[in-house]
Amino acid sequence: MTSMLQKLILPIFSGPPEPPRNKVTVVGVGQVGMACAVSILLKELADELALVDVMEDKLKGEMMDLQHGSLFLKTKVVADKDYSVTANSHIVLVTAGVRQQEGESRLKLVQRNVNIFKHIIPQIVKHSPDCIVVVVSNPVDILTYVTWKLSGLPKHRVIGSGTNLDSARFRFLVAEKLGINASSVHGWILGEHGDTSVPVWSGANVAGVSLQTLNPDIGSDKDKENWKETHKMVVDSAYEVIKLKGFTNWAIGLSVADLTETIIRNMNKVHPVSTMVKGMHGINNEVYLSLPCVLNGGGVSSVINMTLTGGEVAQLQASANTLWNIQKDLQDV
Ligand SMILES: NC(=O)c1ccc[n+]([C@@H]2O[C@H](COP(=O)([O-])OP(=O)(O)OC[C@H]3O[C@@H](n4cnc5c(N)ncnc54)[C@H](O)[C@@H]3O)[C@@H](O)[C@H]2O)c1
Repeated sequence: MTSMLQKLILPIFSGPPEPPRNKVTVVGVGQVGMACAVSILLKELADELALVDVMEDKLKGEMMDLQHGSLFLKTKVVADKDYSVTANSHIVLVTAGVRQQEGESRLKLVQRNVNIFKHIIPQIVKHSPDCIVVVVSNPVDILTYVTWKLSGLPKHRVIGSGTNLDSARFRFLVAEKLGINASSVHGWILGEHGDTSVPVWSGANVAGVSLQTLNPDIGSDKDKENWKETHKMVVDSAYEVIKLKGFTNWAIGLSVADLTETIIRNMNKVHPVSTMVKGMHGINNEVYLSLPCVLNGGGVSSVINMTLTGGEVAQLQASANTLWNIQKDLQDV
């Protein structure tokens, strides 16, 4: 008997289905992973979005909830705990991980996340050997290094979301003080994502007007306008949001979608993201830190050789040493 499907649709070609052209995978469907997923869906960047997590019910629930919005989206949403669902991804975003427990040292937390990454990363590479991995899980710079080591991918295809978010927070806060839009404030936070990030006051400008030329003390303790506080607010902002709502997700989701757009659309935009910095600014160890990187469809194509003051270089080198001191004691990387 002929089914309704057979009566309705006349096949012309019955080979395998067309593979996705712009597939993005999000590993970890927690607060951050889902904010990334929704931001990417709303920007219509991918033709297929794959989700992976170890919590099967949550994963299925998130997949179904998004699929029920298919009418309003331009992306096919798939999910499974098996990584075959991620096959042929152009970009894989890693947001999976565990959070710090009370009294737990940073190194212990890192080691626990390394053990999780030892499961995740080989699976990603097995199914998408040519992908670009963007690591979001914290501590992001160390876990990006770990991903590079575990994946065997070339360094330009392993990126950490780094200080892309810190820089966005900084530009917003300076813009609020000046009463203009964040996109019109140009300023870069480099180095380690988080506590020891480096504000490049020497390059901060509006319409090409250097803020440091107008206020030579900007960012220093001598500054009567206390602009240093703006960077402190950037560093404290994650802690403050976590205290208020338990986690941060929307801004990181939007900033990761911005990185995804630059990569998937092959835009050659410059972003502060975590890259392997050995040999740059006098750093001699294999560490990942954020510098202004040109991103395109192949990953990090080059690093902008930013003019930094001696103090800014010293801060970058100090971050590099701190990270290396943790990395060198990691097991099984
Ligand atoms: N880089 C940044 O700027 C930035 C900003 C915010 C949060 N983060 C980090 O992002 C990470 C996620 O934060 P969150 O709030 O979404 O946490 P969350 O606890 O809500 O989600 C983590 C998810 O990871 C999953 N997971 C754990 N082990 C897994 C495995 N082996 N395979 C697949 N999935 C696994 C969990 O089941 C969970 O769904 C944390 O490390 C957090 O610190 C980074």
